Amino acid sequence: MLTIEFSISNSKSLSLICLQFLKPTNMKVIAINGSPKAEGNTFHALKIVLEELGNEGITSEIIHIGNKNIRGCLACGKCARNKDEKCIQTKDDVNDWIAKMKEADGILLGSPVYYASISGTMKAFLDRAFYVSGANGGMFRHKVGASIAAVRRSGGLPAFNVLNNYLLYAEMLIPASNYWNVIHGARPGEVLQDEEGIQIMRVLGRNMAWLMKLVNHGKGSITPPVAERKQYMNFIR
Ligand SMILES: Cc1cc2nc3c(=O)[nH]c(=O)nc-3n(C[C@H](O)[C@H](O)[C@H](O)COP(=O)(O)O)c2cc1C
Repeated sequence: MLTIEFSISNSKSLSLICLQFLKPTNMKVIAINGSPKAEGNTFHALKIVLEELGNEGITSEIIHIGNKNIRGCLACGKCARNKDEKCIQTKDDVNDWIAKMKEADGILLGSPVYYASISGTMKAFLDRAFYVSGANGGMFRHKVGASIAAVRRSGGLPAFNVLNNYLLYAEMLIPASNYWNVIHGARPGEVLQDEEGIQIMRVLGRNMAWLMKLVNHGKGSITPPVAERKQYMNFIR
């Protein structure tokens, strides 16, 4: 489904829409906004990436999880026993979001930097979503996934690494940008003054779209590697 939002007098918007009509892909990206702020810096950074995806005919949806009450993983192991693609904690919308991520072709994670890491709510959500995914045969395996972090000054890189750890563990395919995916700003919207950060997000969006198209193109002709049964070792004799 394509979003149509333009004024006839704006020829640039019109040509953008025409471009989208020319290149629909039926592919979708789910973006997770881990900031408590609905339209803070994380949101603006995500939007830059998603705009590039939209230019390539890939639709998207931002799910704002950062202002919700989400408890962390209880380590109960029920998701591994039940194998119903769900977390047993049902007082929040985490299971609905997991289902949306499963349906999507790509997943984009965005978090503000809190104490040189990701926001607490984002961690609570990702721990549960990716544990459920892993316990159910790898629900996100071989999807394209990317991460971005919004930061005032320092700690962007460790936060970016934390986000990437989820994608890597899930055997997802990660596109790169021309630098690490961190954008700088303090008050909401300030990241739009970080010209280099904006370029990083733009390049990421284009590379993500390209990788998604390559993966999609290879479906049915290039066989993906079979998943190996995970070997656990806890180093205790
Ligand atoms: C609890 C908390 C912790 C923070 N920790 C850091 C930090 O470690 N390093 C930093 O540079 N900025 C830190 N910040 C600032 C935010 O990362 C920064 O304002 C970011 O742009 C917020 O993104 P948002 O508008 O999407 O929420 C912190 C902010 C809060 C509220």
